[in-house]
Amino acid sequence: MPKPPIIRSVSSLRRAIGRFRKAGDTVALVPTMGALHGGHVTLVRQARRRARRVVVSIFVNPAQFAPHEDFGSYPRTFATDLAALSKLKVDLIWAPSVREMYPDCFAMRIEPEGPAKAGLEDAFRPHFFGGVATVVAKLLLQVAPQFAMFGEKDFQQLRVVTAMAKDLDIPVKIVGVPTVREKDGLALSSRNAYLSEHERAVAPTLHSVLKDTASRIKAGQSIGAAIAAGRGTIERSGFSVDYLEARDARTLVPIASLQDGPVRLLVAAKLGRTRLIDNVKV
Ligand code: PAJ
Repeated sequence: MPKPPIIRSVSSLRRAIGRFRKAGDTVALVPTMGALHGGHVTLVRQARRRARRVVVSIFVNPAQFAPHEDFGSYPRTFATDLAALSKLKVDLIWAPSVREMYPDCFAMRIEPEGPAKAGLEDAFRPHFFGGVATVVAKLLLQVAPQFAMFGEKDFQQLRVVTAMAKDLDIPVKIVGVPTVREKDGLALSSRNAYLSEHERAVAPTLHSVLKDTASRIKAGQSIGAAIAAGRGTIERSGFSVDYLEARDARTLVPIASLQDGPVRLLVAAKLGRTRLIDNVKV
């Protein structure tokens, strides 16, 4: 299986992208932190449907981890990732070092507002979206793709990146891709590798409660009552809940009734030391 070129410097990336451009090829970017799973694979396949050339970035971005978070222990599986990306016939792997991405004297940070200040992930990871916005802006400027693929699994991130591209006039179409799940409903995530056998058995509760809460709301139960019941079920199964919220799917502002707009249910909860997030449409 021929391996895609692995590019490690911004200057050689520009030359490679320049060759795609010269040939008149469209480019789709799939930003990742590696430890690739079926969710990432779906993003790559969707990218392939949109553009002639597919670029996958692999970069564990220190700027989006707080000092107490798992930057050091985040799974790094480059050899396996490379094998998967070779099979998918991606055109280029962009895998800069931390120093290439953030050279000495790097002194810039994007501070996203709006959906990045919705009181969801940001309330528990205040550092996170500034780091994501900064690295995604860099990736979009480095690769200059026509399309960039993001998973709905990280729904707030999808909204933040979409707002950033629009507000900064970055000429790219941000494409949201539905969440890929295990058969039992658990959303695929690189962090699922942290779960013990017992925790793995409990983890699908998060999705089953989201689905059940969505059905109750659709059946006419008040959002407040449905959420309170869902939260109780998640806690009784052993999670510690950071949030379970109903939000306007477009703006992420709190929403009290189905009549007020499209509703998205979003959850984050810890199972032992692993923090899981998920969301569904109502
Ligand atoms: P990472 O967690 O590696 O995810 C890369 C992309 O895969 C994100 O757009 C994420 O939403 C998507 N993804 C993850 N699990 C998925 C699933 N089960 N179904 C569908 N898509 C899924 O998210 C990041 O990296 C980083 O924050 C990044 C955007 C790369 C910036 O550093």
